Amino acid sequence: MPPVTQTDFFTVVRERHSVKHYDAAHKLSEQEIKELLEIAAGAPSSWNLQHWKFLAITDQAAKEKLLPIAYGQKQVVEASVVVAILGDLQANLNAEAVYGAAVQAGLMPENVKSALIGQIENAYANVPAVPRDEALRNASLAAMQLMLAAKAKGLDSCPMGGYDAGQFVEAFNVPPRYVPVMLVAIGKAAAPARPTSRFPVEQTIVWNGF
Ligand SMILES: Cc1cc2nc3c(=O)[nH]c(=O)nc-3n(C[C@H](O)[C@H](O)[C@H](O)COP(=O)(O)O)c2cc1C
Repeated sequence: MPPVTQTDFFTVVRERHSVKHYDAAHKLSEQEIKELLEIAAGAPSSWNLQHWKFLAITDQAAKEKLLPIAYGQKQVVEASVVVAILGDLQANLNAEAVYGAAVQAGLMPENVKSALIGQIENAYANVPAVPRDEALRNASLAAMQLMLAAKAKGLDSCPMGGYDAGQFVEAFNVPPRYVPVMLVAIGKAAAPARPTSRFPVEQTIVWNGF
């Protein structure tokens, strides 16, 4: 299949599949990776707190270190980059920067900023599930957007939950503020993805409540 390049949205979505074999000789520049991550960071997030951090693994030595942590899955050494999508457990701390900038730009009145920050601090302090739920939910949206951006640029990707998160944190010195969400391997496909199917849509929908 020829690479899909900045083609229409539906083709990108339809043709994104999880590629397991990559051309190990294919490199992405730092600029190319930044462009992909900038698009990923355009994902929506609760209160616009942008609960993601991208740990971009490009060095061969770092990929080799990741290989046993990812249970020997070869895509981590063959892909041009493996992006560890991390969720921010303290995304409430981003509020001041996000809303401060909006106030300064004249996009938000000061009292709206204060009200939002009050809501956020209350949720993060008093609802125990919020920090982790929000980190996983919002960072996952960025991961999806990253995979679609890669496809639109003629690359392929593989989302990966098959790795030891505890070992990953230790090996890559991930601070406690961040929770590993998934790895996304990105590169030039060396073999097409295995075909997969989906349930018929009727089977996935419940109209107006169970
Ligand atoms: C959260 C998540 C974790 C996954 N983990 C792995 C993994 O560790 N290794 C792998 O080869 N594929 C992994 N996959 C890919 C799935 O197997 C794949 O998305 C699914 O079979 C559908 O196929 P498609 O993506 O090619 O359409 C993962 C997918 C998701 C969304």
